[in-house]
Amino acid sequence: MSRIFSGIQPSGELHIGNYLGAVRNWVRLQHEFESIFCVVDYHAITLPYEPDMLRERRHAMAVSLLAAGIDPNVCTLFVQSQVPEHTELAWFFNTITPLGELERQTQFKEKSQRQESVAAGILNYPVLQAADILLYRADTVPVGEDQVQHLELSRVVARKWNSMFGRRTGRTLDDGTEEREAFFPEPQALLTPTRRIMGLDGHAKMSKSMGNTIALLETPEQIWAKLRPAVTDPKRIKRTDPGTPEVCNIYHLHKAFSPPETVEHVAHMCRTAGWGCIDCKKVLAESMETELVPIRRRAAELAADPSRVDDALASGAAHCRAIARETIDAARERMGF
Ligand code: AMP
Ligand code: TRP
Repeated sequence: MSRIFSGIQPSGELHIGNYLGAVRNWVRLQHEFESIFCVVDYHAITLPYEPDMLRERRHAMAVSLLAAGIDPNVCTLFVQSQVPEHTELAWFFNTITPLGELERQTQFKEKSQRQESVAAGILNYPVLQAADILLYRADTVPVGEDQVQHLELSRVVARKWNSMFGRRTGRTLDDGTEEREAFFPEPQALLTPTRRIMGLDGHAKMSKSMGNTIALLETPEQIWAKLRPAVTDPKRIKRTDPGTPEVCNIYHLHKAFSPPETVEHVAHMCRTAGWGCIDCKKVLAESMETELVPIRRRAAELAADPSRVDDALASGAAHCRAIARETIDAARERMGF
């Protein structure tokens, strides 16, 4: 049976890009597969940060995930730094990862361009990510589209490690080399139809660093203040101009949040200029409320009871440490330790 693993950085509030690209899928998948979800705080320190802020955000991210529907009775939720084996496996992987593969990662290029002085952690970030996944020998990784390249690298690492340290099976392959056991699986990304949500500026991917997000736990008033001025179809200048839903970010959000009949109606009203963009946004705000009200309610309950969150994370970490120890022991033995 497949084991699922995914992670999210505690580098700000959970936003609807994270939610639609990844977390909503996790909530569904936890019932179908053995699932492990991780707040990756060691990844979050690869960019400059405030220690007190990190403490707060780690907890806030766990609250948001639980509120969004991650159920610790069904799956495992834990914090990366509570399982030290992640960094041990990452070190092993660092010794076999080709530097060129890391240097050509798009996220490395983007992040390092934005920094005056670039720390090695930004370059090695995807190696730690490979360790996260492979420590649990997970083969399926539900993520947004921006993580596809990192997962390719995870496969390179798994393949290389297996070919160097996997036990010999005794069989000879067609090319004359000796077959090795595939100790680590080659993990695959699992994408959703909403794999890349654009920000409210309509130009860039929704991301905290671009300041173009809607957080999952914002109030209806805050959400409306962001939706109201959000970019729509750039060719629709006057209220009476017919629009093209396919090029409109608000329409894509309708597809994520509104029922199919509403999506169809919205498209019709846009094409025929029956509605202006504000009318369309009001309907979106209502659809979002339907999904977000129960999430907000659960978040408020959890915020009032921090020990419930801490207990869930502690038992998640205990469960993960046991699996991690087994993998590390086997890897160490095969690597000559
Ligand atoms: P991060 O906040 O970078 O840790 O991302 C957590 C998860 O959300 C990852 O699976 C990302 O691929 C996904 N994600 C982040 N931003 C977006 C977006 N704008 N659209 C879709 N998925 C996203
Ligand atoms: N790099 C991922 C992101 O920014 C977070 C992450 C870390 C992750 N380790 C992972 C995602 C393992 C999936 C699996 O979104």
